[in-house]
Amino acid sequence: MCGIVGILGKEAVATQVVEALRRLEYRGYDSAGVATLEAGQLTRRRAEGKLKNLEIRLSTEPLEGLIGIGHTRWATHGKPNETNAHPHATGKLAVVHNGIIENFRELRAELQADGYVFDTETDTEIVAHLVTRELDRGKTPVEAVGLSLPRLHGAFALAFLFQGQEDLLIGARKGSPLAVGVGDGEMYLGSDALALAPFTNLIAYLEEGDWVVLNRKGATFYDKTNAQVERHAQRVAAGAFLVEKGNHRHFMAKEIYEQPEVVGHTLTQYLDMAAGKVRLPFGDKIDWKGLSRLTIGACGTSYYAGLIAKYWFEKLARLPVEIDVASEFRYREAPLPEQGLALFVSQSGETADTLAGLRYARQNGQAILSVVNVPTSTIARESHAVAQTLAGPEIGVASTKAFVCQLAVFASLALAAARARGTLSAEDEAGHVQNLISLPGLMARALELEPQIEQLSHKLSRAKDVLYLGRGTSFPLALEGALKLKEISYIHAEGYPAGELKHGPIALIDEDMPVIVVAPHDALFEKTASNMQEVAARGGRIILVTDAKGAAECGIEPEATIVMPDMDPTFAPIVYALPIQMIAYQTAVFMGKDVDQPRNLAKSVTVE
Ligand code: F6R
Repeated sequence: MCGIVGILGKEAVATQVVEALRRLEYRGYDSAGVATLEAGQLTRRRAEGKLKNLEIRLSTEPLEGLIGIGHTRWATHGKPNETNAHPHATGKLAVVHNGIIENFRELRAELQADGYVFDTETDTEIVAHLVTRELDRGKTPVEAVGLSLPRLHGAFALAFLFQGQEDLLIGARKGSPLAVGVGDGEMYLGSDALALAPFTNLIAYLEEGDWVVLNRKGATFYDKTNAQVERHAQRVAAGAFLVEKGNHRHFMAKEIYEQPEVVGHTLTQYLDMAAGKVRLPFGDKIDWKGLSRLTIGACGTSYYAGLIAKYWFEKLARLPVEIDVASEFRYREAPLPEQGLALFVSQSGETADTLAGLRYARQNGQAILSVVNVPTSTIARESHAVAQTLAGPEIGVASTKAFVCQLAVFASLALAAARARGTLSAEDEAGHVQNLISLPGLMARALELEPQIEQLSHKLSRAKDVLYLGRGTSFPLALEGALKLKEISYIHAEGYPAGELKHGPIALIDEDMPVIVVAPHDALFEKTASNMQEVAARGGRIILVTDAKGAAECGIEPEATIVMPDMDPTFAPIVYALPIQMIAYQTAVFMGKDVDQPRNLAKSVTVE
């Protein structure tokens, strides 16, 4: 959805504003704009389409102001054209807005009756005129915003820039997040910390109903009653997400939709995006170079994340990986290498078997690294180093956003290990980092496939059994897909490596059993295509999750093809996880199941 940026800088800010907007691209948008003050005068540039159109505009008509606001707009009220693009301006102020002003019609009629003329179809323009009316009545900008905000109904975040006010930005939040970044003599506003990552990691979040007045020396916060309040800045906040369903029917849906955002948040902690390098939050604590082997333990979905990580560590860092489900690892008395590293993966950080596996490894002289979502958990406390996933609280019992964040952390760890072990050039590292940065945007595009997946799920809901197939990193995704489907829809499902098909499961293929094949067009695609032929030859029903090239070259006519955006294959599982989750979710919803609290399951499994 829309992205907001505001900068009170020391030099011309337009380029920085666009750079920050680029980090919000993953939210999706269809026009963009920037406003600054040129010698006190409000000036703006806006463009339909992608940010590059705005950049072209700025290259011929540059903006020099030291203060500015910017916006990427995902159209709600009015077409995605330049006229409707933000910032919206009157002679006295410019404003950018994320969200929807529900009572805009009523307010527009009121303002029109007072002689205010509207140029656009947007709900945002009423905010510009509403505050301008207070300025026209002789109020200061701070008073004008304080008087106007209570008139606005709906969910929104706003940022204001005022004519002639070189040291003032005002932000407001109701329903949509807004963060304040504290720099050295510079201050920032952003839809999230990710947008501000290149400038500062000292972040304060506005609470619901808050608004904030910024100058270059700092920020003054007010709550919804206009009382001054303290909101402390902290070094990059971990997933400050509301534990509410918002507009979603289930927590699981909300968490599926949060994934571009939380993967973006997580990556900001593990990458130096500007330098094109991995930068682990715990520095050089791990001696990757000296390792002969890495041991990984986890349960359920976290185990599948570990399985994908095995492919990455082995291929990128040439580091052998031993991985096991924690309930087996804890009892099988595995010999562990001297001064080895054991890595435990857990969303909750409290899973009994994973914790027991960790203690076994610790007693056997291993350094312990954990990938956890809850930094205060027992597993985190008993580890030597913690790699936190910034998924925010995960409420749906079926893990979704924690899984993709675990993968984002593992991708970063594998690259760090590869660099340390000399198996990755600086150039290749920069290429992989660039690919990781593009993931939130690709995930947002994958979410757009939901209507097609919803249709598909109606048919799937009639199945008694479903087979999932994949090769390489798509194999653990096949396992994860089967787990997701069975745990929330109660349809029996199994995941297999596609190459194992003819060693047994092919006996099950008939016209009643859907076979979901996860197969991006990567180096193994042709092999998987042969397996699809084997299924098709036996009358099997194939649902293919692939990209455009895979769809064109699969050599069969699947019952349905889910066409994913093109991407580099290495970290593609982070994006391909989304249709897998949506298939399970939509099927379970169609069947009327309790997706957030499936029968017999618990979120935190503290018994073995
Ligand atoms: C499946 C799921 C479970 C958990 C497993 C481990 O959707 O959520 O399989 O992944 O219980 O839990 P954590 O990650 O908390 O250790």
